[in-house]
Amino acid sequence: MSVDQDAASRGEASERPRVRVWDGPTRLFHWSLVILIALAYATRKANPDLVWHMRIGYAILILITFRILWGFVGSSTSRFSAFAYAPWTAVRYGIDFLLRRPRHFLGHNPLGGTVVFILLGLVAAQGLLGLFSYDDHTDLHGGPLTSKVSEATVALATRWHIWLFDILLIVIALHILASFAYAIWKREDLIGPMITGRKRRKDFEDQPEAQIASPLVALLCLILAAAIVLGGITLAGGKIG
Ligand code: HEM
Ligand code: HEM
Repeated sequence: MSVDQDAASRGEASERPRVRVWDGPTRLFHWSLVILIALAYATRKANPDLVWHMRIGYAILILITFRILWGFVGSSTSRFSAFAYAPWTAVRYGIDFLLRRPRHFLGHNPLGGTVVFILLGLVAAQGLLGLFSYDDHTDLHGGPLTSKVSEATVALATRWHIWLFDILLIVIALHILASFAYAIWKREDLIGPMITGRKRRKDFEDQPEAQIASPLVALLCLILAAAIVLGGITLAGGKIG
C-alpha cells in the first residue's frame, strides 16, 4: 500500500466512531464455549447417563482445537502473537489498571491476554482429562481412552477432571468479574464488542483496527479441528459413542 493510500485509509478509519475488533468466528467461538461449558456441567449433574456429557465434551475439544488453529491464521486481533506478552508487561498493565492510568488496547490487553491463555489451557486440559476419566458412581461410562491406560492413571485423571473443573470455575468467575470491573473502573465496555464485533475508536497501543480473515479459512480450521479430535481419539484406539 502506498503512503497516500495508507494515509487515506487511516483518514477514513478516523471518521468512523467504531472499528472492527473481533471477527465472527472468534465471537461465535466464545459464546459457544460459554453455552457448552454450562451444558457439560448441567448434563453431568442432571443425568447420571454420561452420553450427552461426553458428546458435549468432544464438541468443546473441537472448539478449543479450532481456536488454537485460528490463533495462527485468524484475524489480526485473534492471533496469539497479538496478545502474547511477557509476564512483566502483564503485571505492569495490572498496576496501570489499578491506578486508572489511561491505556487502551483494541484486542486483548496484556493482562487479559494472559488470562485468555490460562482459560484456553484449562479448558483443553479439562477436556483431555475427560477422555481418561471413569464414572465410578454408576460404573456405566468412561471416557473413550480409559481402556488404553492403567487403572491408576484413570483414577488420577478422574480426580483431576473433577478438581480442575473447580479451578476452571474460579478463573471463569474472575474473568467475568474483570469484564464488569473494566466497565465500572475504566468505563470501557468489553462485553459489547464480544457481541457486536466493534469497539469505540481510540488511540490504541496495539493496532488501530482488526484485519479480518476470511470466514472460509475459519470453516477449514473447524473441519481440520474436528478431524484432529475425532481422528486422534480413533487413531489412539478409542471409540466415540
Ligand atoms: C464458560 C465461561 C467463559 C469462558 C470459558 C470464557 C473464555 C473466554 C476466552 C477464551 C476469551 C478469549 C476470546 C478469544 O480471543 O478467543 C474470552 C474473552 C472475553 N470474554 Fe469470556 N469466557 C466465559 C464467559 C464470559 C462471560 C459470561 C462474559 C460476559 C459477562 C465474558 C466476557 C468476555 C469478554 C468481554 C472477552 C473479551 C475480553 C477482551 O476484550 O480482551 N466471558 N472469554
Ligand atoms: C471441557 C469439557 C468438560 C467439562 C467442563 C467437564 C465437566 C465435568 C464435570 C463438572 C463433571 C462432574 C464432576 C463431579 O462429579 O463433581 C464431569 C465428570 C465426568 N466427565 Fe467431564 N467434562 C468435560 C469433558 C469431558 C470429556 C471430553 C469426557 C469424555 C469423553 C468426559 C467424561 C467425564 C466422566 C467419565 C465423568 C465422570 C467422573 C465422575 O464424576 O466420577 N468429560 N465432567
